[in-house]
Amino acid sequence: MSTSLEMKKIQKWYGALHVVRDFDLYVKPGEFLTFLGPSGSGKTTALKMIAGFESPSGGDMLLGSRSIVDVPPYERGIGMVFQNYALFPHMTVAENVAFPLTVRKIGRAETEEKVLRALQLVKMTEYRDRYPNQLSGGQQQRIALARAVVFNPSILLMDEPLGALDRNLREHMKIEIMRIQDELNMTVVFVTHDQDEALTMSDRVAVINEGRLIQVADSRSLYYSPQDRFVASFVGESNLLPCRVDRIENGAGKVTIGAATSGVARLSGQLGGEAGWLFVRPEHVDIGPLGVIPNTENVLNGVVKDALFLGEMTRYAVRCDDETITVKQQNRGQAQLAGGTPVTVSWDAANCIVLN
Ligand SMILES: Nc1ncnc2c1ncn2[C@@H]1O[C@H](COP(=O)(O)OP(=O)(O)OP(=O)(O)O)[C@@H](O)[C@H]1O
Ligand SMILES: [Mg+2]
Repeated sequence: MSTSLEMKKIQKWYGALHVVRDFDLYVKPGEFLTFLGPSGSGKTTALKMIAGFESPSGGDMLLGSRSIVDVPPYERGIGMVFQNYALFPHMTVAENVAFPLTVRKIGRAETEEKVLRALQLVKMTEYRDRYPNQLSGGQQQRIALARAVVFNPSILLMDEPLGALDRNLREHMKIEIMRIQDELNMTVVFVTHDQDEALTMSDRVAVINEGRLIQVADSRSLYYSPQDRFVASFVGESNLLPCRVDRIENGAGKVTIGAATSGVARLSGQLGGEAGWLFVRPEHVDIGPLGVIPNTENVLNGVVKDALFLGEMTRYAVRCDDETITVKQQNRGQAQLAGGTPVTVSWDAANCIVLN
């Protein structure tokens, strides 16, 4: 059974260091929410407070309708998987998975049944009598996952559970975790600094920087409508061009980009002053020989500085006045534009935003 989690103005101070600031967040029952942020931004600290290993310096936290700030960790009914979370080396796989049930004094028959079901869930039944040092890293992590869900936790917390795995295994485990979450309909709070992981796995992503929740949104909104420069540059690749908003018409801004090229852009909600940053994704920029212009707005002339053939696409760096614009173009048999070629780049107003 899944539960909601609510954080209300949660704070954490370590001495003079304000590590988690004003976390206000509601995680719906059955939702997969990811904390995404750079190293040291406060992700693990936030997770530890949910688990009860650290107590907040301020604020309140609710599981369902119950405040948990004064509830000890083992009574919160939360499952956890950590990066390199070691299994007990002297216990077999089955004993490891049974551990949370043993602690809860569950009877033998029920324990056996639940352990079997958890091992089936992670497809590890045939390994039940092995010891952790006889398993690969990925297999150990699956056992850690089975151990975290064996007692039907109300919510599952995972702190970079895939960090230690190689790329292929990580891809595989991503899908496994999503399948298991779906099967158990569990509320999950997942931590990563890997944007691909966050974008593919989550219902919503909470972007954290320097202890603050910057933006909480689904993957598409985060990618296409970042709230500020930090989110724009941390999630995916982007062009951020200094610009000036000259006037606003029908909610769109008439902007000047660089040396007096005019364009039109969506404005982010918080735009205050005149100067801002025009944000556009490299795959939204069209490129062609000088004067060949697919869009009527946001048109810049420049010269190809670099052309990098990447198979499915070509990535161009185009020098326009003082700015270098990155362009990603799908390869569909067209000729590649060589370095030094004079080009025109342009993009649609719907695909760019002015951020302050
Ligand atoms: N017990 C502690 N005492 C003092 N400072 C701490 C303690 N734990 C964490 N910090 C500090 O709090 C900040 C946030 O740490 P945290 O571990 O939450 O970051 P993180 O986002 O999980 O980073 P990473 O991606 O590297 O795991 C860091 O500046 C860290 O040095
Ligand atoms: Mg961490």
